[in-house]
Amino acid sequence: MESVQTLDHPLIQHKLTLLRDRTTGTKEFRMLVEEVSMLMAYEITRLMPLREVEIETPITKTKGYLIAGKKMSLVPILRAGLGMVDGMLSILPAAKVGHIGLYRDPKTLKPVEYYSKMPQDLPEREVIVLDPMLATGGSVCQAIHMLKGWGAEQIKFVCLLAAPEGLERLHKEHPEIMVYTAAIDERLNEKSYIVPGLGDAGDRLFGTK
Ligand code: URA
Repeated sequence: MESVQTLDHPLIQHKLTLLRDRTTGTKEFRMLVEEVSMLMAYEITRLMPLREVEIETPITKTKGYLIAGKKMSLVPILRAGLGMVDGMLSILPAAKVGHIGLYRDPKTLKPVEYYSKMPQDLPEREVIVLDPMLATGGSVCQAIHMLKGWGAEQIKFVCLLAAPEGLERLHKEHPEIMVYTAAIDERLNEKSYIVPGLGDAGDRLFGTK
């Protein structure tokens, strides 16, 4: 799929393997998610547009380059997406952070909004949606649908692991969205967990069960 990029930097793959390991505890898991997110932010900003500027060094006048283009907004999907925010902000410190909270209605199994708050100038920003696990794709498709309704025009999605089922659904519902992931796993199991996956990302990040 052209709209998916697997970020296979050796450091990302090394840390992802530690994340998958069931013996990795909460403290280390949280730190690893932050580190992988930072490395992913570095990779996805590789093609950011630059503008040429004239500056003066202590020695002479010269040309330099500064980041051009839209300002950024990070939008974690609660709650597991929160684990990716600090790592992303270490590379993109000026980004504003919106939040989307969704729960799955037990009857319809559809995602329902319970909280959202966005930067006021969202339509002028490039939006990076964060959720570590792209499983069925229900939450991220709903989040992107909401973001488009609020005027966002440039949206990317960053996750740690993607299931083929989720990628297919996202591509079908929002074909223009570029997805960045550290790995594409085999499949979903009967409980919609990613296989081999890393378990429940939210529980492992926050030490709940
Ligand atoms: N959410 C998770 O946290 N893990 C999965 O495997 C799927 C969805």
